[in-house]
Amino acid sequence: MNKKIALTGDRPTGCLHLGHYIGSLKNRIRLQNQYNQYIMVADIQALTDYFSNPSKISDSLLEVVADYISVGIDPNLSTIFIQSQITALPELVMYYMNLVTVSRLERNPTVKTEIQQKNFADSIPAGFLCYPVSQAADITAFKAEIIPVGEDQLPLIEQCNEIVRRFNRIYNTQCLKEAKAELSTTPRLVGIDGKAKASKSLNNAIFLKDSPEIIKEKVYSMFTDPNHIKISDPGKVEGNVVFTYLDAFYDDKEEIASLKKQYQKGGLGDTSIKSLLNKTLQNLLEPIREKRFSLKKDYLYDILYTGTQKAKTIAEHTLCEVKEAIGLNFFSNK
Ligand code: TRP
Repeated sequence: MNKKIALTGDRPTGCLHLGHYIGSLKNRIRLQNQYNQYIMVADIQALTDYFSNPSKISDSLLEVVADYISVGIDPNLSTIFIQSQITALPELVMYYMNLVTVSRLERNPTVKTEIQQKNFADSIPAGFLCYPVSQAADITAFKAEIIPVGEDQLPLIEQCNEIVRRFNRIYNTQCLKEAKAELSTTPRLVGIDGKAKASKSLNNAIFLKDSPEIIKEKVYSMFTDPNHIKISDPGKVEGNVVFTYLDAFYDDKEEIASLKKQYQKGGLGDTSIKSLLNKTLQNLLEPIREKRFSLKKDYLYDILYTGTQKAKTIAEHTLCEVKEAIGLNFFSNK
């Protein structure tokens, strides 16, 4: 039986961190056996944020792929490719753009939140406003049925499916497929400061490539309970970042439950739980880091090249169908 096609992607704007690991990478390692999985390095989409600082993107591209391979994404099972090298994608965008209104894009909840976060007010770059159309091109080009993403991406998939339905209706075709989100069940990982989600820009994340010293330093600087001063003081577990990370990364859930009880009662020091977390993360990240440093640049480029060639063929095929449906297949018998 043919496996269903799954598509995901990341904007390459820095190395990946533990939040990515539990949020999407672990999922992809599992899903690559179940689906025909495509993983896109979304550099065109990253440009909508960083068009004036493109080196940030080109510098991150190989790092992201190194992160993928070192956690166990298998290039023989997953097709990893570079968005900007597939010209069929921006071509599809031109055709889809006629099927969306500006106000619909402005009302897209994901876009709306980002417009506020970025303080665009009345000067929204058209490229940014249209990135949901670009994402619709990504999804439809591969006829992806499954989009394994976090909840924040739902409005983008909804918008994609609206385009699919309109396209198929207007041009009287079935060539585009609707996609379904497969939601990741892990909540977003909080940053080591406990204030916001872990992210590169907030400098509050533990990166997969961090050295043992840096990991230790970050763990020992984690936000716990400011009122838990003496070991004998009762401590708070909610909002305590060390416990949040132990919940996410320590396998023995019973042991964590009993440590939490002890901590709440009083008698368990921050140093003990930090030491346990440090050991846990060191064990998790050591093999990933070793693998990463054994990867040669040429090997990573080969993976990207092979993946991109394969993706290109598929996207071009869809583009042909799309142009044919519209009636733009002028030289098809040449
Ligand atoms: N929007 C996604 C992100 O910011 C990246 C992305 C681009 C994507 N195209 C996609 C995800 C297509 C899933 C499907 O992380």
